[in-house]
Amino acid sequence: MSTILTPDALRALERPTGFASGLPRQAFTSQAFLDDEIARVFAPTWIYAGAESAVPEVGDTLPATIGNAPVVLVRGRDRTVRAFHNICRHRAALVVTEPGTKRSSLVCPYHGWTYDLDGGLLRTPHIGGTGKHTCEGIERAELGLKPVRCESWGGLLFVNLSGDAPPLADHLRPLTERWSAYDVGRFRYAGSIDYTLTCNWKLAVENYLESYHLPWVHPSLNSYSRLDDHYMFEAGTVAYGQGTTVYAPDLACGQTLPPLDGLNDAARARAEYPVIFPSLMVGLQCDHFYVINVVPLAPDHTLEHFDLFFVDGATTDDRLAPARKETRDRWNAVFVEDVAIVESAQRGRASPAMDGGRFSAHQDALVHLFEKSVARLMAAQSPSRVAQMSA
Ligand code: FES
Ligand SMILES: [Fe+2]
Repeated sequence: MSTILTPDALRALERPTGFASGLPRQAFTSQAFLDDEIARVFAPTWIYAGAESAVPEVGDTLPATIGNAPVVLVRGRDRTVRAFHNICRHRAALVVTEPGTKRSSLVCPYHGWTYDLDGGLLRTPHIGGTGKHTCEGIERAELGLKPVRCESWGGLLFVNLSGDAPPLADHLRPLTERWSAYDVGRFRYAGSIDYTLTCNWKLAVENYLESYHLPWVHPSLNSYSRLDDHYMFEAGTVAYGQGTTVYAPDLACGQTLPPLDGLNDAARARAEYPVIFPSLMVGLQCDHFYVINVVPLAPDHTLEHFDLFFVDGATTDDRLAPARKETRDRWNAVFVEDVAIVESAQRGRASPAMDGGRFSAHQDALVHLFEKSVARLMAAQSPSRVAQMSA
């Protein structure tokens, strides 16, 4: 049990939304709390690591960070994408630091230990002295990259550090059933943008869970997607968020991006923006899709990794370049507007006067649900999975 989540703090958080207090400020500022979150909130579940279509060829590699664990996705010679801990078995340098294409092997940049695409250790140059590449005590067969459990939904690759989460398909079912009309597997990766935020990871997620801030922070977005047009939804406990019924795919450039097949008018006008708990912010529209992976780097330092997708050939069709650019630029403008305000909310949490804050029962119900979800995992008696992760 965290010393930050005192019984009084938990009781205050569990009150009805309009009467509750939020998580104590130290839940957003403490390294020990973040370490515990990674073990209790991130490691036991499925965390997004990247898109299958971002590593289309044999030997393509994509590094990612899950909590505090660097991992790498690698498409093997059998075309299967595997995940590994991206940690050299020699002295723990990161083996893959940049996305790569068509690599024949993975060479650690520190001393050249070389791994096959299936993780096996192939070469240990000069380990026995100059020109001698073997050495007593170093058994290559035992020193491959450590595998990480990896499964795919709709071309999105998730990893599970603890190794014992339910199958990904079962985990995501409440959301995938809700979205069964949308053939998400037809979206193709079309690029990324990284944002670094001087705030706790939870503040990025909480900001995504409410549209209360739209009139203040996003006046231009609010002009065509008003507060009143939004609804809240929950898909089991795996995902919850906002939706809108007035998605208008027409772009100022005059182009239209092709939508997924088989959607009726209502489905085309709907767009949904849930968080897949704990840290994947998703945007589903009929003609494009995005995910923003929220990666905690330090208590007050967070990476948002935005991956954008369009339907099949619309990803590469040169004629649609203006539509793709406008879509990307429009989202980028919205996300940039959010950065300063969540950083401000982090600075407020440095103050001893911050008492957890309050929620609007009408606007902040999902923020409250999210904080309760985190707190319940942090307060549970269940053993930490850290031991299993290192097994
Ligand atoms: S740390 Fe990778 S080869 Fe030394
Ligand atoms: Fe926002």
